[in-house]
Amino acid sequence: MSTRSSRPHVVLGVSGGIAAYKACELLRRFTESGYDVTVVPTAAALQFVGAPTWSALSGKPVSTEVWDDVHLVPHVRIGQTADLVVVAPATADLLAKAAHGLADDLLTTTLLTARCPVVFAPAMHTEMWDHPATAANVATLRERGALVIEPAEGRLTGADTGKGRLPDPAEIYAIATDLLARGGSLAQDLAGAHVVVSAGGTREYLDPVRFLGNRSSGLQGYALARTAAARGAEVTLIAANVTLPDPAGVKVVRVETTAELQAEVMAAATAADVVVMAAAPADFRPATFTESKIKKAEDGTSPEIRLTQNPDILAGLAQDRPHPDLVVVGFAAETGDTHGSVMDHARTKLARKGCDLLVVNDVGGGKVFGSEENEAVILGADGSSTSVPRGSKSAVAQAIWDRVAPLLNAR
Ligand code: CTP
Repeated sequence: MSTRSSRPHVVLGVSGGIAAYKACELLRRFTESGYDVTVVPTAAALQFVGAPTWSALSGKPVSTEVWDDVHLVPHVRIGQTADLVVVAPATADLLAKAAHGLADDLLTTTLLTARCPVVFAPAMHTEMWDHPATAANVATLRERGALVIEPAEGRLTGADTGKGRLPDPAEIYAIATDLLARGGSLAQDLAGAHVVVSAGGTREYLDPVRFLGNRSSGLQGYALARTAAARGAEVTLIAANVTLPDPAGVKVVRVETTAELQAEVMAAATAADVVVMAAAPADFRPATFTESKIKKAEDGTSPEIRLTQNPDILAGLAQDRPHPDLVVVGFAAETGDTHGSVMDHARTKLARKGCDLLVVNDVGGGKVFGSEENEAVILGADGSSTSVPRGSKSAVAQAIWDRVAPLLNAR
């Protein structure tokens, strides 16, 4: 009998692509977060990263063939005891084998015996990804319930660029662990919806090198974009000064100022079903922009900065919608004060902004900013209220989509 660890057992399948080296970082993320990981590389994967690396990083022996340790029946046991299988990178060949049930090595036999959630993170050249054979294999795997992450766009192995890069390991990790947290399957209840999410904090320039900014990290907005894509949505993410890796399968539009953010949000909103304003646009900007760098005055006096108010993008969008079916979701970062509690301020803000849902964060004492965790209350214009307990920003994002999906279906 095999002794099962109480930690979730993840099988990390690695097939033979140059992106195999990035799977080392993915492996580290799993092990450092306490997962029990068995790495199953293909023989071709070992051409890129050797067995000692996988073994050292996972703390376990590594085999590729069903002929190793036959008495332990590894081709059945590894799949049977897995709580999650993640294949990263998944080559075109591996996807084809998985789609057709071929089983000629330890990874492909494991895929046939596993009954847990399976995530494929493909990486290949654009032509191979676009080929009808690969498209059909991906469709087959998705129909059977596997989560096939869209590859990222960018530089490929050679000088070429295009769709086919392995998504950032942090993104694969977030998608995989989120899937586990959701009980192993993600409803495709946002399929067909076009979702626009804004994220990050705007910069308002004083001169070519100085700006007024804020502490928004973009983590919550990126989690919203990632989880919406995983639930089937077409996602446009408008990111203000965020340094996080692009979420897989998401169109990212980069902006700096509130004026740029407003222009991109309004342009994207016309074709959107829902806009979620998770960004922190600056409420004020310098009244004047100085074309050249502001110098210190010789007499030691300091410059006075006069501010002017920025447009309220959320209120403008909610009150003058480009089409009546658009769902508008706002965020409220609140602290209680002598005029009222966090929730008093939030209810007033929901009415003032005119949005359908308001996600309320208590930011007293600098909580939330840059943190991996969040907690929130989601207020509805219909008077409803949903508490989202403290958890990952992905979990909060999922709770927001749980509230948005019925609104979309009702329209
Ligand atoms: N927001 C916006 N445009 C702005 C400022 C904020 O669209 N110029 C959006 C944010 O993206 C967020 C919501 O409004 O979804 C709430 O922002 P918040 O800063 O909490 O509220 P304020 O409108 O600034 O109100 P106050 O400062 O009085 O709390």
